[in-house]
Amino acid sequence: MSTTASTIAPIQWRDGRLFLLDQRQLPHRQEWLDYDHPDLVAEAITMMVVRGAPAIGVAAAYGVVLAGRQAWHTAGVTWKQAMTAPLARLENARPTAVNLCWAIEHMRQFYRDLSDGESPETALLAEAIKIHELDVAANRRMGKYGASLLEANSIVLTHCNAGALATAGFGTALGVIRQGVADGKIQHVYVDETRPWLQGSRLTAWELLQDNIPMTLQADSAAALLMASGKLDWVIVGADRIAANGDTANKIGTYSLAVLARYHKVRMMVVAPTATIDWDMPDGSGIPIEQRQGEEVTHINREPIAPANVIAINPAFDVTPADLIDAIVTEAGVILSPTTEKMLTLREEKS
Ligand code: MRU
Repeated sequence: MSTTASTIAPIQWRDGRLFLLDQRQLPHRQEWLDYDHPDLVAEAITMMVVRGAPAIGVAAAYGVVLAGRQAWHTAGVTWKQAMTAPLARLENARPTAVNLCWAIEHMRQFYRDLSDGESPETALLAEAIKIHELDVAANRRMGKYGASLLEANSIVLTHCNAGALATAGFGTALGVIRQGVADGKIQHVYVDETRPWLQGSRLTAWELLQDNIPMTLQADSAAALLMASGKLDWVIVGADRIAANGDTANKIGTYSLAVLARYHKVRMMVVAPTATIDWDMPDGSGIPIEQRQGEEVTHINREPIAPANVIAINPAFDVTPADLIDAIVTEAGVILSPTTEKMLTLREEKS
């Protein structure tokens, strides 16, 4: 089965515009939206046209290209000062995924050395394309590292969507799954539907079926029963922000899976590029958790499923303590049973 060849590329730059595959419409419609203004890219990130930590970072890098174009047109030689406000709006589009700030800061450092006297657009675009291509390469590498941890014919569970749609392509957790299936390491994948936004049923199921990967969808609350059956070997998930000690913020529900997994002796793997590590955050207690509108809980496809006026909370992420994680897989290497000391080797690896 040739399963590593995912061709889903949800972020594209063509004819001077950013094209995003609208993830709100999947799996029923494949609609592309295009952008030529950084504020509209920020809005697309907030509204989840594009979502998933690495994908948000790549989209934001292209947002910086659009900001550069606009700043040059409106401010000329003072274009660098004119970048401050649009970049702040991009940075604030979503709070938890650190890849967003990482990509914008990377672009900021890059344009510091550019000339004030000419349009920065071509140089910014080349740098954004580099971020885009490096993300795909990192995912391929993590796929190999992660799959090497699995025994033959493993059965795995994934939560949310950490696939091609959540990255520049191939995926983090789904990259390991794609590679694992290709290598005969994975026999079957269980997919949590991932309430309330349903990234699992709408996006992960769609991706896996496109690649003919054997899968079964389940309600999030079915995970304990699956683990108790003794069938499951690994939970494999992505991350939105990893603290310096390995505590990991990911889609709401990941923490409960990690607690269940430890009780049932199922192993827990987090797969994320080093751009997802926040070295300034000593542990997970300071990670900002995005609170989204209650309507995502009380409605599905704008149809109410709860009594009118009910109050709902909607934290989009939770934090899994490092000691519930068996492996953190990055493009710079694998950390088993993460601690601050072990995590630091990844930083040394990169520099
Ligand atoms: O709210 P979302 O859909 O952006 O949340 C996405 C996740 O939690 C993913 O697991 C994470 O970003 C990793 S994506 C490779």
